[in-house]
Amino acid sequence: MSTETERRVENLLARSKETLTINDSTTTSIQMARQSVPNVAVSKPESTEDDNAFKEKFNIELRDLQNSRKATPSARVMQSFREKLPAFKVKDEFLKAVADNQVLVVSGETGCGKTTQLPQFILEEEIERLQGAKCNIICTQPRRISAISVAARIASERGENLGETVGYQIRLEAKRSAQTRLLFCTTGVLLRRLVQEPDLGGVSHLLVDEIHERGMNEDFLIIILRDLLPRRPDLRLILMSATINAELFSTYFGNAPIIHIPGLTYPVAEVFLEDVVEKTRYRIKSEFDNFQGNSRRRRRQPSTKNDPLTEMFEDVDIDAQYKNYSMSTRQSLEAWDGTQLDLGLVEATIEYICRHEKDGAILVFLTGWDEISKLLDKIKGNNFLGNSSRFLVLPLHGSMPTVNQREIFDRPPSNVRKIVLATNIAESSITIDDVVYVIDCGKAKETSYDALNKLACLLPSWISKASAHQRRGRAGRVQPGVCYRLYPKVIHDAMPQYQLPEILRTPLQELCLNIKSLQLGAVATFLAKALQPPDPLSVKNALELLKTIGALDEMEELTPLGCHLCTLPLDPNIGKMLLIGSVFQCLDPALTIAAALAHRDPFVLPINRKEEADAAKRSFAGDSCSDHIALLKAFEAWKDAKRSGKERAFCWENFLSPMTLQMMEDMRNQFLDLLSDIGFVNKARGVKAYSQYGDDLEMVCAILCAGLYPNVIQCKRRGKRTAFYNKEVGKVDMHPSSVNAGVHLFPLPYMVYSEKVKTTGIYIRDSTNISDYALLLFGGSFMPSKTGEGIDMLGGYLHFSAPKSVIQLIQRLRGELDKLLQRK
Ligand code: CDP
Ligand code: MG
Repeated sequence: MSTETERRVENLLARSKETLTINDSTTTSIQMARQSVPNVAVSKPESTEDDNAFKEKFNIELRDLQNSRKATPSARVMQSFREKLPAFKVKDEFLKAVADNQVLVVSGETGCGKTTQLPQFILEEEIERLQGAKCNIICTQPRRISAISVAARIASERGENLGETVGYQIRLEAKRSAQTRLLFCTTGVLLRRLVQEPDLGGVSHLLVDEIHERGMNEDFLIIILRDLLPRRPDLRLILMSATINAELFSTYFGNAPIIHIPGLTYPVAEVFLEDVVEKTRYRIKSEFDNFQGNSRRRRRQPSTKNDPLTEMFEDVDIDAQYKNYSMSTRQSLEAWDGTQLDLGLVEATIEYICRHEKDGAILVFLTGWDEISKLLDKIKGNNFLGNSSRFLVLPLHGSMPTVNQREIFDRPPSNVRKIVLATNIAESSITIDDVVYVIDCGKAKETSYDALNKLACLLPSWISKASAHQRRGRAGRVQPGVCYRLYPKVIHDAMPQYQLPEILRTPLQELCLNIKSLQLGAVATFLAKALQPPDPLSVKNALELLKTIGALDEMEELTPLGCHLCTLPLDPNIGKMLLIGSVFQCLDPALTIAAALAHRDPFVLPINRKEEADAAKRSFAGDSCSDHIALLKAFEAWKDAKRSGKERAFCWENFLSPMTLQMMEDMRNQFLDLLSDIGFVNKARGVKAYSQYGDDLEMVCAILCAGLYPNVIQCKRRGKRTAFYNKEVGKVDMHPSSVNAGVHLFPLPYMVYSEKVKTTGIYIRDSTNISDYALLLFGGSFMPSKTGEGIDMLGGYLHFSAPKSVIQLIQRLRGELDKLLQRK
């Protein structure tokens, strides 16, 4: 170890020690803040006579209020709207089934009125029967934005203010009162409530919505509920699903009855890429031309037995199939598969509709925020569409701040065409009524997890037939519509029937933490009870990771750090970065980096100006050898530019996405709220109060190490170059977009990274060069090595020889940190 490194390390040690004492003084106030448990309904005291009289009065008041509101003219209009919804036809059957069965599955086409009507039927009935006081209905939603919009809708259908009998509760935001009888909440909020109330005491009806999506939280919740039902015979459980696989859920709950709501939608014509191209006369990339050539040839030759392309598309399981095909075929599919969505084509299709088709809103399905923002820019620059008074272009994305939602649902004035650019959030949980045209890119961002290589990625992949059907259906709400599919018919035919459930394709560490905090016993045993149990190797990896980062001890019990991480609805690594960042007075940079990790980094990659873009990124990185520092500096420079009103030019010159930066800023606020909520910081004091070392890049790198560990790479010198090694996969390369790509030698011996991706090889996306002491102090659990001469990490993959005195100091400092976390 060079003397220079030693000097820097000593500084680092001294500072972290200092910070520990500084923060110690705030412990008491933090402890106090933590004791204020978030808004959770408290079970009512034992009934007394007074209490009974009060309830009777309350029941009558609720009923009279409900009846008087029904009598107003506006309520009558609402009522006639409601009666036209398909759900209305099953009202009596539904209420009877709820009364007669503990579990019920209801399926129906999106928009038929499941979410807004079914809970409302129960509510009205209970109030009418003078059972209002006892009734406590909860309906879960997978997403925050739908919880709010649905609650608001029902309140207006009932002619009351949001937060009276109908309310919502999402993390850090609620509108509810003592009067609230129907509460919409995110599935995550209900899971948290289960920590305090394992039996859901006081809840009379629980509706779990969008169960067909097979989200991780919903799959998790139904395991818990199946165990809970025998303990709560009076609880009614209603599972609501689009018209997909309702039998699966019924079987899981011992053949629970199913009610199917017949659909009421107008026909929707389907146009595939072949015809879109002809209609819009848009020239698209050559892959499609090749591809089209192939499929034309196929059509001309009826005997297709040996045509690999046809065979490939015969089976729905694309992946398993195409592994067996010849290289040339595989390459052509990959070429097609890997092509980015041609946003020019989307723009041309929108323009085509606006020029040639009748009135009606357009809903565009894209994969994510970056596509939405790029398309927004394109539309702004389009000669015809850029005329903003005739077109109302609105983005719709799950992590959008919850303001300004109303204009998405409202009908614009008659001479204005609404164009909504959405992710798959608009597929089933949000219904925009006036949509007549759907443009479907055929893909959605999907996480996938390779348990063997511990590789997780979030990549656009083909949607399922079920999703494609949902998307199309969004166009036929009020009149016949058209769905423009921007992919060939053969791709549609090759799509899998259903999407793989999230629990089978994502890393499970957050889920495992939740299982621990709900005290549901051994993780593996519990998860074996799932509708489709995850791969035991994924479970093992998740538990191992939680032990490695210090969230679980060897006995699989939560450590103090683990307990804190459970309270944050975040990936445990990101959570740890925020916690350690705030404890070590590095909150400001930790918030920024965590926001970029949770969302995406703000650098855009223009295809034709790649070198300039790389240079801009490198100039932000300076000599830090860190992609994370680059984005941190870029974010800070953006804030300065914004203050001086030069935001647009700044982003343009530096190849940054203003939308992503804005989203990062919003996420920083959300994270700050979360940390404040669990008492780690006091928001009122401001971020600066916790960022004494925010400008010290060495500290920032150490915090990065705390958050990203065990994503570690060893940098090994090979002559004049450096080779990179990773424990799981061996030799890896730096991704070409990294500031560390093409650098031959690095000042420090290790890297931490946020993501490794598998394309042609295994690449490291964003990395930061760090010292061995950053690893020793801020990395996960470690062991004194067997010889007693040093320290082993990652099961001996990393070995550090250090003088005994330094090892002792490190152990002491880490012990101090543990104690500090324990006290909180
Ligand atoms: O849950 P499901 O997809 O079956 O339908 P829903 O969300 O209950 O919506 C039923 C109808 O209510 C929709 O077709 C919309 O017309 C209307 N609605 C609305 O106008 N505003 C909302 N925020 C939600 C629903
Ligand atoms: Mg719904």
